[in-house]
Amino acid sequence: MKTGIYYFSATGNSLTTAKLLAASLDGQCDVISLAALHNKQDIEVDYERVGFVFPIYYGDMPYLIRDTIRKMKFKQNTYIFIFKTYRGHPMYLIHISETTRLLSHSYADFCLK
Ligand SMILES: Cc1cc2nc3c(=O)[nH]c(=O)nc-3n(C[C@H](O)[C@H](O)[C@H](O)COP(=O)(O)O)c2cc1C
Repeated sequence: MKTGIYYFSATGNSLTTAKLLAASLDGQCDVISLAALHNKQDIEVDYERVGFVFPIYYGDMPYLIRDTIRKMKFKQNTYIFIFKTYRGHPMYLIHISETTRLLSHSYADFCLK
């Protein structure tokens, strides 16, 4: 199964998490910077399994993540998982409603402190 892990990281926690995840998964696994995709219009996602790894900012996903995910086109039946890194309090309920609105696919969601 081909996996793409899309990450955003300012201080390195989420990048480290993305790399550890990639190393632990079977099959091809690409680690891709969301910041590098931010200026693209339509982003075709050709992976059967897609991961997002990013920090929580103010109890929410950073604007860059939200803006980039909106432009991504997933294949039908793509399995999506999300790992959010945080330091104090993830304000989980606020965040999960935002994620649900953006991703119409079913997904698994994890928080890492
Ligand atoms: C602008 C900003 C806002 C943040 N807001 C939160 C927050 O609301 N809750 C929390 O637990 N951590 C918050 N943090 C901490 C980061 O989520 C945490 O340090 C994360 O692991 C950083 O990931 P990175 O190293 O990949 O950039 C915030 C950090 C920054 C810079």
